[in-house]
Amino acid sequence: MSTFMLVVGAVIGVAYIYRHVVVKGKRCTSEAKLHGKTVIVTGSNTGIGKTTAIDLAKRGARVILACRSKLRGEAALEEVKNKSGSNQVVFMPLDLGSLQSVRSFAETFLKSEPRLDILINNAGIFLQGRTEDGLGMMFGVNHIGHFLLTNLLLDRLKECGSSRVVNVSSMAHNFGKIDFDCLNTHKALGLGTSFMQQLQVYSDSKLCNILFTHELAKRLQETKVTCYSLHPGAINTELTRNTDSLIKMLLKPLTLFFFKNTDQGAQTTLHCAVQEGIELFHGRYFSNCSVKQVYAKAKDDAAAKKLWELSERLSGLA
Ligand SMILES: NC(=O)c1ccc[n+]([C@@H]2O[C@H](COP(=O)([O-])OP(=O)(O)OC[C@H]3O[C@@H](n4cnc5c(N)ncnc54)[C@H](OP(=O)(O)O)[C@@H]3O)[C@@H](O)[C@H]2O)c1
Ligand SMILES: *[C@@H]1O[C@H](CO)[C@@H](O)[C@H](O)[C@H]1NC(C)=O
Ligand SMILES: *[C@@H]1O[C@H](CO)[C@@H](O)[C@H](O)[C@H]1NC(C)=O
Ligand SMILES: *[C@@H]1O[C@H](CO)[C@@H](O)[C@H](O)[C@H]1NC(C)=O
Repeated sequence: MSTFMLVVGAVIGVAYIYRHVVVKGKRCTSEAKLHGKTVIVTGSNTGIGKTTAIDLAKRGARVILACRSKLRGEAALEEVKNKSGSNQVVFMPLDLGSLQSVRSFAETFLKSEPRLDILINNAGIFLQGRTEDGLGMMFGVNHIGHFLLTNLLLDRLKECGSSRVVNVSSMAHNFGKIDFDCLNTHKALGLGTSFMQQLQVYSDSKLCNILFTHELAKRLQETKVTCYSLHPGAINTELTRNTDSLIKMLLKPLTLFFFKNTDQGAQTTLHCAVQEGIELFHGRYFSNCSVKQVYAKAKDDAAAKKLWELSERLSGLA
């Protein structure tokens, strides 16, 4: 009996330490204040985007919540203001699944806001389908929408000196590939709708984020703007809201134990957004608040350039 109790005790102890050290991960330690600076966070009405927005508002930044739903965006606006104690928070509608919406967001923003110091491309979706412009949903929202947004705002970022672009990608990019044939014929990374096929396309779209950071870094070489991509960790958010309820039920116990909460999940984004002295890691990929190596496919110069040119065409920039 006592051996049994000992084993149970040891298991609980190890589990406790695992959760509080490994799962929790490192925190952003920068105390940087952001008074007089302006930040955009896409998809900030829920999940890690909302937590990121609250933290940046507490640091004094003027925070633009760029969200697609007026209802959810305005509810988040109240919450971010309340939890940060700041009234320098604004909601501006942005649907990354519509090139028209991205353009009108950029126009409104550039007209009404004189500065842009940090752009956080956080919004992401896990769902097959088509965007308003007929692009594959995850390719269109996770990649093309942010591609166009970043390009339309680039001059303002450059004008503001040492500004930053932060791209929330995912570890899932390790399983990603870019099927240029499929992109050329179907304007999508893949077509299947089973869970595994969706997971593949999600991973592909997250590889796009990293290749973009890679190419953008090169294009920003002569400027003071730096860019970073990152994996935020596995986090309990609404990301799986469109997933089959059986899969969700099976995942539930795992996520409760192994996944971070949104406060823990926002730390690497915050690190890339505010940590002093990381400029030497321009264009690199972060995880657990540290710079990490990526596989060759995530720093493939030729693929990054090809994807950039295709994205210029599909977003109507070229
Ligand atoms: N959760 C994880 O374990 C995990 C792991 C690795 C990477 N990530 C990445 O972290 C980022 C944030 O995800 P999360 O976990 O916080 O998920 P979430 O809770 O689902 O939040 C995603 C946000 O993106 C927004 N969004 C979706 N489609 C949009 C569109 N067309 N236009 C504008 N906004 C749109 C959502 O708005 P609505 O509420 O209106 O849908 C929501 O605000 C994503 O890029 C995701 O890929 C998450
Ligand atoms: C994150 O870093 C901390 C501190 O170095 C470490 O203890 C923890 O295991 C790491 N977590 C992950 C998921 O890598
Ligand atoms: C936030 O909301 C709570 C409850 O609704 C209220 O008591 C509190 O004063 C609010 N705080 C701020 C800073 O608005
Ligand atoms: C972020 O990702 C988007 C879409 O993949 C891309 O267009 C943009 O250039 C990227 N920016 C950075 C800093 O990586």
